[in-house]
Amino acid sequence: MSAQPSARRAPRPRLAVLCSGAGTNLQAILTAIRRGRLRARVVLVVSDRPEAPALVRARRARIPAIALPPMASSSRAAYDAGLARAIRRAGAAWVILAGFMRILTPGFVRRFRGRIVNVHPALLPAFPGARAVRDALAHGAKVTGVTVHLVEARVDQGPIVAQAPVAVRPGDTAATLLARLHRVEHRLYPQAIQWAVEGRLRVRGRRVTLRG
Ligand code: GAR
Repeated sequence: MSAQPSARRAPRPRLAVLCSGAGTNLQAILTAIRRGRLRARVVLVVSDRPEAPALVRARRARIPAIALPPMASSSRAAYDAGLARAIRRAGAAWVILAGFMRILTPGFVRRFRGRIVNVHPALLPAFPGARAVRDALAHGAKVTGVTVHLVEARVDQGPIVAQAPVAVRPGDTAATLLARLHRVEHRLYPQAIQWAVEGRLRVRGRRVTLRG
């Protein structure tokens, strides 16, 4: 009789984390893994910015970390082909976007279809794009929040896995609001990644439900 490996002994899902900036979400993922709240392994960190603090965090945690500056590629497709090669070489099954400020090409999204996850600092579909926190403030929103979603070719439009609201306070600046958004992201994102990698997400069109 062939024994099924128990969940505990089964190999940990392998994640490639893509970052452009501070890497606080990367750090939250690493902490969640260390504390056993996320059963996965980060096998590669990639940044498009060689000076990104996220790379320093990764190296400190002894995770292979590479900078892929866009200038070295002739086109977005060539850049994403190089990115996909690095991810494949690392044996990563999941692509985790943690503040990666580049738009992925449809070819890249197809290649990792259903296995690319993103965190966004607004309640999508409100305030998509790279200036979500400033846009929410400028719009006078009373509530904004955090969205975790699966990535599709259209920017910030994939099926929503999880959302959490954050109140905008009078006198908030982008920095104070972002600090509160980060606290929510750091709790919500590792949890949503755990659901994704353990196969609990059922995706029907735009609707994502949680199995079990
Ligand atoms: C996060 O707040 C994330 O939601 C945002 O970038 C920040 C990265 O912070 N992503 C986007 O705006 C994507 N459109 P971090 O580097 O400290 O994790």
